Amino acid sequence: KMRIGILSAGGDCPGINAAIRGVGKTAIVQYDMEVQGIVNGFSGLVETETIELTENLLSGILTLGGTILGTSRLKPFKASVGDEPLDKPGTIKKNYEELGLDALVCIGGNGTQETASLLAKEGLNVVGVPKTIDNDIWGTDVTFGFDTAYHIATEAIDRLHTTANSHKRVMVIEVMGHHAGWIALYSGMSGGGDVILVPEIDYSMESVAECLMERSRVKKPYSIVVVAEGLPKDSKKSAGAYIAKEIRKLTGLETRETILGYTQRGGSPTATDRILATQFGAYAAELIHQRKFGTMVAMRNGAVTSIPLDEVGGKIRLIKPDNKLVEIGRHMGVCFGD
Ligand code: F6P
Repeated sequence: KMRIGILSAGGDCPGINAAIRGVGKTAIVQYDMEVQGIVNGFSGLVETETIELTENLLSGILTLGGTILGTSRLKPFKASVGDEPLDKPGTIKKNYEELGLDALVCIGGNGTQETASLLAKEGLNVVGVPKTIDNDIWGTDVTFGFDTAYHIATEAIDRLHTTANSHKRVMVIEVMGHHAGWIALYSGMSGGGDVILVPEIDYSMESVAECLMERSRVKKPYSIVVVAEGLPKDSKKSAGAYIAKEIRKLTGLETRETILGYTQRGGSPTATDRILATQFGAYAAELIHQRKFGTMVAMRNGAVTSIPLDEVGGKIRLIKPDNKLVEIGRHMGVCFGD
């Protein structure tokens, strides 16, 4: 019998449990494998903390947010004491063998896929499953967690509209996305944001202020400004607080900020994310069955496929300058601050 391990690492997101279930049930039911859950990301492989994932344990978790396995941000290849690197990869390799694992599924974001790729180079049989609310993993057109996160952000923007209108205010909302502005772009467009600021598009405060003043000149009583948290700025303030302060300074318009934060990562995944996570998980089990290791599951042009892990490591999928949704926004009068 093949014996596989599953771990989730990095920031959590809605859909991880659906993916764990997708891998685990497919491995057990379709391929007659044994499945070990590794607790708290790569830490669980350093400390040998595991639980046997039976079909019973995998039942009832499809709709749950977070991850039943726990997660951590431990980067084994970067761990050191002072200048001395700790040999966590060596420990992981030893424990992988002692646990009798034939393969390891790593569910995670960019950092996790990079670690997965390095472990594959160390000789472990690794399959990566991409997850993040940020939707910024190289090599896949979409990640699970993103759909849920931007729906939550959209709902928040909808709610901000009514209070903005009542008070005739500018409402700035900061959404997550530390490198990429996908959540800001998608929630901004689906929530009808007037200004959308993402790290990929250079903005100037003068241009943002001009858009807002123009709206007030044509008697639009309020404005919604959607800001990605990773926006470059000359300030220690959060992106939302900084942009709101600058708007107040340059326009004199009454402005309030909302920082949406971790609500975007919590709770039950949308139906779309459940399907995507299930497809990704099931495909990871299939890749293991076919012994296609050193790969990451990916969605490309509407089909679930895989790409070599070493193509993924260290890269980020950003919004491109010719992004269609940005172009549509521009044609409809959305201000991107440039
Ligand atoms: O990558 C997902 C994400 O939620 C980012 O949008 C955010 O910047 C980061 O994780 C926050 O990380 P942490 O969980 O370490 O606070």
